Amino acid sequence: MLTPRLEAIAEMVEQGATLADIGTDHGYLPVALLNRGVIESAIAADVNEKPLESAKRNTPENLKEHMQFRLGNGLEPILEGEVDQIVIAGMGGELIGQILSADWKKTRSFASLILQPMVKVSYLREFLKDNGFCIVDETMVQEGNKFYQIMKVKHGQEQELEPIHLEIGAGIIEKGGSALDAFLAFRISRIDRILSQLDQCGKEKEQERQMWKKKRQELVEVKRNVGARNHSNHQ
Ligand SMILES: C[S@@+](CC[C@H](N)C(=O)[O-])C[C@H]1O[C@@H](n2cnc3c(N)ncnc32)[C@H](O)[C@@H]1O
Repeated sequence: MLTPRLEAIAEMVEQGATLADIGTDHGYLPVALLNRGVIESAIAADVNEKPLESAKRNTPENLKEHMQFRLGNGLEPILEGEVDQIVIAGMGGELIGQILSADWKKTRSFASLILQPMVKVSYLREFLKDNGFCIVDETMVQEGNKFYQIMKVKHGQEQELEPIHLEIGAGIIEKGGSALDAFLAFRISRIDRILSQLDQCGKEKEQERQMWKKKRQELVEVKRNVGARNHSNHQ
């Protein structure tokens, strides 16, 4: 069984696609997708030998003929256009950006990429926009007190993004749901803590205080809009 984060990634994989999982580690994702018959073949790639060994160990014998294991940095072990979909999950947004930008021609040769940054989500969204990728689907998942944003992207021009949509994808706000509600409550309470600490400081922190107040206001606005939409959907 996959964790909610990996499950949400699996849901973005298209039926019948060929897939490469970059930074596969345990290999749980391609194994589950092969088991379910969603994909026919997969390439499990990792820059380190130990994770790749663990992916091999976790692959049942009957699936091994459908799975290739490749050692290498980022997209290097994958040929241009070799698969339909690429997954890069569980890494920082900057590292994901480095992997994508190492060879743009190759990166653009895949029909879509499913990305799940652990940190620097806003950075990655801006980076994708600046480099001609658009987000075609996105979702938010909660595991305990951790929140993950998962995005499916394709080569194509992204529209201008509002600052708030760099932090929380427009598609995630559009979908709504319990993970988003919990994330907004969590972020607002974190900002309230920061603001109460800044209130103890003098005037020299005024600029910082205004910045956090603005961010809080944006999040409250999103919360209000999502709440109003939920309300009207239930009427
Ligand atoms: C935290 S694990 C994530 C595993 C899995 N993708 C997931 O989301 O559960 C990160 C994996 O990425 C691998 N990795 C880190 N940098 C990489 C790179 N530049 N190219 C390929 N794999 C990389 C690591 O060796 C590690 O196995």
